[in-house]
Parts: sequence; structure tokens; C-alpha cells
Amino acid sequence: MDRSLAKERISALSEEIRRHNHNYYVLSKPEISDFQFDMLLEELIRLEKDFPDLAEPDSPTQHVGGGITKEFKQVEHRYPMLSLGNTYSEAEIGDFEDRIHKIIGDDVEYVCELKFDGVAIGVTYRNGILVQAVTRGDGVRGDDVTTNVKTIRSIPLKLHGSGFPEEFEIRGEIILPHASFEKMNEQRIEDGDEPFANPRNAASGSLKMQDSAEVSKRNLDGFFYYLPGNNLPFKTHYECLTAAKSWGFKISEYAVRCKTSEEIFDYLNTWNVARHDLSFDIDGIVIKVNDLRQQEILGYTAKSPRWAISYKFKAEQAATKLLSVVYQVGRTGAITPVANLRPVQLAGTVVKRASLHNADIIATLDVRIGDTVYVEKGGEIIPKILGVDLEHRPADASPVGFISSCPECGTALIRTEGESAWYCPNENNCPPQIKGKLEHFISRKAMNIDSLGEGKIEMLFDNGLVHNCADLYDLTYDRLIGLEKTFNSPEDKKERKISFREKTVTNILNGIEESKKAGFDRVLYALGIRYVGETVARKLAAHFMSVEKLAAADFTSLTEVEEIGDKIARSILDWFAVPKNLEIVERLKISGLIFSHDESLVIRLSSKLEGLTFVVSGVFANFSRDQLKKTIEEHGGKNIGSVSSKTSYLLAGDNMGPEKRRKAEKLGVTIISESAFLSLIQ
Ligand code: IVH
Repeated sequence: MDRSLAKERISALSEEIRRHNHNYYVLSKPEISDFQFDMLLEELIRLEKDFPDLAEPDSPTQHVGGGITKEFKQVEHRYPMLSLGNTYSEAEIGDFEDRIHKIIGDDVEYVCELKFDGVAIGVTYRNGILVQAVTRGDGVRGDDVTTNVKTIRSIPLKLHGSGFPEEFEIRGEIILPHASFEKMNEQRIEDGDEPFANPRNAASGSLKMQDSAEVSKRNLDGFFYYLPGNNLPFKTHYECLTAAKSWGFKISEYAVRCKTSEEIFDYLNTWNVARHDLSFDIDGIVIKVNDLRQQEILGYTAKSPRWAISYKFKAEQAATKLLSVVYQVGRTGAITPVANLRPVQLAGTVVKRASLHNADIIATLDVRIGDTVYVEKGGEIIPKILGVDLEHRPADASPVGFISSCPECGTALIRTEGESAWYCPNENNCPPQIKGKLEHFISRKAMNIDSLGEGKIEMLFDNGLVHNCADLYDLTYDRLIGLEKTFNSPEDKKERKISFREKTVTNILNGIEESKKAGFDRVLYALGIRYVGETVARKLAAHFMSVEKLAAADFTSLTEVEEIGDKIARSILDWFAVPKNLEIVERLKISGLIFSHDESLVIRLSSKLEGLTFVVSGVFANFSRDQLKKTIEEHGGKNIGSVSSKTSYLLAGDNMGPEKRRKAEKLGVTIISESAFLSLIQ
């Protein structure tokens, strides 16, 4: 085909495919068969391959994916992504209305919407083209998941119609419909991976996959419900939704305008029941003031808009009989009692097990085998036991005696003063603890070895190939190829066998190799030292700079680091006192993992604060505490958590703890204000 003909055909095909995508995924009204659609798409893919420079930047072939995101970039939201105030009762909705009427008067119209239970997303369009998609994150900054969001077929890559602002953001929710969720979990079980607890977790996990071609297969969907910003050519929220619909977005057909409390309660009661007929999860309804001017007058609190509120459906309950109690051992060795129940229908699924949390809860509930118990299903896969129906207690109901030794390895259980959980202390030899630690080690925020999952870790462990994280780096092709596992298929209850083939083995080994690039903070977090989460690991890495210095640190120097309190310090000391742990660190070092902090990664603005240590405390007029701490580091200074004789300055804001001031005065530490600090670095 000649170039100009190809150009014309690419443009015509793109337009046509876009239209069919919209018909199928947004309007649910396909005009052609799947086969015809695939033919068009294949033709476009072929042409774009032959004439790569003619491919349009917003081509619908992007829905197929292919781009890889190694690390999701953090992006600041133009408008903070706030959450909504939650209510659980009709009375609280009445209070919400009263507050609004007091400020606005009685002439208020509301829009009632479904509260989609998925992952919040902000998508930016420039000149009608999708340019960026960012997750909520902490509300201020989120992950840039553009490549993955582009694979969602119901989200337009190029807008229809006209009248949209040159640049704008639209907010919505990425969800996974029930049918896709079930299909995906079946596949995961087959692959030996742990199924997702609910569609929300599955949607969130899918959005964070590195390979967008895989995301494309997950059948994610997106509903949109909000246009932030005050430069919109519309008067009401409802008009915004209608306009967004005309631009090609999937807007729920169940958003309705209401005037009276009765209408709002009708909507609520209808969806409290009808939600079970939807093909996706909702966890409540959202009520919004319709008029954008009125929204502006009402404004925001620090966390949420005053012009909207969400009503969360109550978790559903059922009564059933407690048959027996078994005990599970978690990654940290914590023992969780789990109740086996007579199967009961609850919120659309059959419940057979429920968590009893810990020994204290069993005692408080005074639950006995044979009792009729009330179970409730929240967002997690395993429901909770709420209480006992004492009236129906059988005469022979027997008390639940808590176990005294580990059901997995037989070690005597221990309980620390003040904690409610019993623990198996056999950290390095108890199978679920070993597997749990390995799962933590490979997890996304730790070493991010996504070619290994729970199922594969179990296989490696069961075959005696890995016992701790250092063993992962000794795996070889020959040891992995042909490794087998038998499991019971949940579909037909038949035994199936899976075995590692060449592609799986190569992926695993590549993933392990790639993980060697993880920085010191991530390695430290991956080690799974109790109470050392991501943030603590980051602070420790930046403060001590190397594992040798961290391992040599004493209690005082540990607690000097910001955010490190007595409990964390003790846990770190305990961990490094175990010879086996030191041996693992040595082996990981030999395997090439990074055990020192690369200071060149910290943005350096100057060295004016080199050698100085700061304690930042109180509330400041112009900066947040975190901003000040970051500035200190950028100028070469160090932040520490508590005042000691080694502290150079106490940077004091309003409402600072009196204890800190007293200590600084006693030790002769200079106390400086925000403005004095700024002059230090200017
Ligand atoms: S409006 C400024 N509408 O619920 C408020 N949010 O708990 C913008 N959500 O973060 C949000 N369905 O992720 C809005 N119809 C809906 C929603 C909805 C689900 C989520 C959203 C938000 C969270 C708040």
C-alpha cells in the first residue's frame, strides 16, 4: 500500500474502531460482531507496524497495551484528591442537609449517585487527548498509571463532540466487574497464585502491573463522576455529567436529581437492595449539591467537600452454627483463630469460615462450639464473628480452649505483655512464617519480584529450594525447570498438575536478577524486621547510610532517628542480634544486593547545613513539618526525632511540646524559629 493511502486508511480505521469501542464498552450496544471488530483492529495494528510514523498518538491500538512501566512515577495532583465524609444512618444525612440549608437556604437540589467500590483515578485530557492518569495515592500525590489506564477500552483516548475545555481533569473510579473478577481468580488459582479478596483489590493490583498488555486482558472498566476545578462552562454538577457523557465517558445512568429528603431516602433504600443486581460492586451512595456556585460557597474542610457526603451500606449479617475452631499462623508468627461454620448465604456468597481474631475476643464473646453465631461480611475475604445467640446455646456447647503450641511446628506459643495475639517464636523454622517472609520479600514495595507469587513461593519451599530470602539468589535454571505442583481445581474438583516451563523459569530468574537494583531502603524493608515499614526503612537508610552502621547502632542512636521509638529500636536490636540474620545479610551482600545508601539520589541544593542535626517540632506559619525536614536534608542537614546533647538546633513552631523545649534549654541546644532557620540557608 502506498503511503498516502495508508495514512487515509489508518485515520478511517482509527475513527471506526473508536466508534465501535464506545458502542460496545460505554453504551453496551455493539453494532458488529467480535470477529468483525478483531479484523478491523488487526488491520490497524498491521498498518501501524508497516508505517510506524503514521500511527496516531491517540490510536485505539493503545488499548491493547504493550508499554512497560518499571516504576510508577509519583505525580502531584493539580487539585488534591479529597475523600468524602461517611455516614451510616439516615439521621446523619438529615444533619448534612441541615448544615447546607443553614448556609445556602432551602433552595437546594441534590444529585444522588452510586458509590463505586474501586480505585479512584484522575484522568487529564489536553485538546481532547488522554495525556495522564493518576491514582489517588495520599491525596496530594499519586502514581502515574497512564500506560495502564490507556488499555481500558471504555475510557476514551480521544474525546467525541466538542465543548470540552482545552485542558481538564475528570475523576472517576476504576472497577472490575464481577464476571471478570471471577474469571481472573480462577486463573490465579490455576497458576498457583492467591486469589484476590475482592474486585477492588483486584482492580488496584491490576492497575499497578508493569506490563500493560497484561492489564489490557483484565477487563477493567471505569465510571466517571466529577470534574474538579472552577473554570467549567457549566452551572451544575448534573450538566457536567451530561457533557462528559457526550464526550464519550462512561457515566452511570443511575445518577438522579433529588429535591427532598424523601427522594434521597428512596434512592438509598432502593440501592441498598438493588445493588445485588448490579454487575459490579458499590459500597454506598453519594449525595452531592448540584449547583456549582452553591458548592463553591460551601467549600471544603481539610479532608472533604462540605457539598457532598457518602452513605455507606451496612455490612450484611447472618446467623449460623459454629462447628469448630482452627488456628492459622501468619507471616509474623501471630496466631489467628478461625471458625469453621455451617455454610450460610451472605451478601451473595456462601460463608464457611470467619475470623475470631485472638484469644481475648474468644473470651469476651464467650463463644462455644455448637453456638449459633452472627457473622458479618466487610470488604475482606474472611468475615467476622460479631456475637453469640445465647438463647439458642445447646446444653452440650463446649468452650473454645486456646492452643498452647504452634499448630504448624509444635513450638510453645508466647504472648508479650500488653499484646492480644499469641505468637509462635520459631521465626526461622516455622513453615508459614518462612513462606510469609518470602512473600513479603518479593512484594511490590519491597524487592518487587513480580514473576514470583504466593503459589510459586510455596512450590519452591515445598521442593526444598528456598528456606529464606538469600536462597532465592542461589536459584538456577536447572533447579527450576520441570518443577511440579499438584492442586485441586476449584471448578471441577479434579487434581491438576502445573510444571515450570522455560518461559516461567526465565521470567523468575530475570525478576530475581532485576531485584538486585533495589535501593538500600527497599532491601531493608524487604528483610521483614518487625515494625520496620517502608517509611521507617527509608529513614534508617538515610540516617545510617549502610547496613554495617545500622547493625552496630545502639539503642540511643537508634531512637535519635526521627520516627524511631523504643519499640522499633528494640526490634531492630533483636533482629541484628540473631546470628542467622547476619548470615542472611552477608549472603545477600555476596549476591550483589545494595546495602548502602546512595546519597547522590537525594537532591542537594547546598551544603550549608552539613554536619548539623535538627529536631523539628510544632506548627509553622509557612511550611509543613515535612517540607522543613525535606529542606534540611536538601541542604545537607540531618533530622532526628528527639533532643539530645548532639542536637544542633531545635526548630520550634507553635504549640511545640513543652518537654522538648525544656530538654533543649537544659542541654543548651539552640532553639530557632522558622524565619531564623530560613536565614541559615539563604
Ligand atoms: S465524588 C471531592 N462520586 O469515594 C469528592 N466519589 O470516599 C469527589 N467514589 O475518593 C468524589 N463513587 O474514590 C464521588 N459517585 C461518586 C463516587 C465516589 C465512588 C469514591 C471516590 C472517593 C471516595 C470517597
